[in-house]
Amino acid sequence: MAVLVLGGAGYIGSHAVDRLIQKGYDVAVVDNLVTGHRAAVNNKARFYEGDIRDAAFLNSVFEQEKVEGVIHFAAFSIVPESMKDPLKYFDNNTAGMVKLLEAMARYNVKKIVFSSTAATYGEPKEVPIRETAPQVPTNPYGESKLAMEKIMHWSDIAYGIKFVALRYFNVAGAKPDGSIGEDHHPETHLVPIILQVAAGEREQLQIFGNDYPTPDGTNVRDYVHVIDLADAHILALEYLKQGHESNAFNLGSSTGFSNKQILDAARSVTERPIPAVNAPRRAGDPSTLIAASDKARSILGWKPQYDDVKEIIKTAWNWKKNAPAGYDDRGGNE
Ligand code: UFG
Repeated sequence: MAVLVLGGAGYIGSHAVDRLIQKGYDVAVVDNLVTGHRAAVNNKARFYEGDIRDAAFLNSVFEQEKVEGVIHFAAFSIVPESMKDPLKYFDNNTAGMVKLLEAMARYNVKKIVFSSTAATYGEPKEVPIRETAPQVPTNPYGESKLAMEKIMHWSDIAYGIKFVALRYFNVAGAKPDGSIGEDHHPETHLVPIILQVAAGEREQLQIFGNDYPTPDGTNVRDYVHVIDLADAHILALEYLKQGHESNAFNLGSSTGFSNKQILDAARSVTERPIPAVNAPRRAGDPSTLIAASDKARSILGWKPQYDDVKEIIKTAWNWKKNAPAGYDDRGGNE
């Protein structure tokens, strides 16, 4: 029986595939390679290039594989892009989910672990954010993922497809050996942009907003290491295999770091000056996002290994030094 990983060539998906293989799972990967990288996929996984909105393609994958469960990473995830082009998000993310669930119902696959996001909560009324908090997204990306959660809820009731929605906070870091990591074009995320400045590829960091109601005026986020995140998906799959009901879990460290604190941590890790300037707020950014993540710890048995943001940045820096131009510098993954 195979675990089918959709979006397994992307940043988080490729780390999850790698961890699944290390733990002895049989893995098949689907990715349209729009943002993913073929070289990021562990070569012990079978790879199918195609789009989940293409029903004929998806049917052919389900025909060839005996799928025990699906882990779904195949979505766009850039908040500012979603503000400019919301339909791109509702098409790929939300409509893609409909197509996927249709195929799962057709092939009698009843388990899905899904990449949701803290962006489904919007601007929280209480911090840390619990899973029961109101979900009122402030951007189309979060709205597209909230709609996907709701579609899964009704598909559970109607077709018995059980799901775990994992609501990620801010993901960073890379496999510690530096063989796979984050490689987006264009890059929009804070940690890799800071490391591009550290590496001399960008002149300076722009800090978006310094007048938020936070201790130093910059946004506060909760960082989780990509390997810890990957492992949570495997625990979630096992949870569903044990016959539990559908559920949603936050994945974060429960500690907040401001953008300025992340910059300082990166200066210390890289021992580079990393010039930075204040810039206007970025549309759609909530002020503070910090997870309450005790539910994942107690119910899934999740034990994140990385509790130090400098250690997280160190693994991202290791990847950056190993592959300065990302996957353009790399042939394949063992
Ligand atoms: N930032 C800058 N300068 C930059 C890039 C980012 O100041 O050049 C700031 C942003 O304004 C924000 C913070 O750094 O305050 C983090 O921004 P990211 O783009 O790295 O991440 P986001 O918080 O916007 O979003 C990420 C994921 C989403 C997820 C969200 C939940 O991309 O999928 O975390 O916390 F929903």
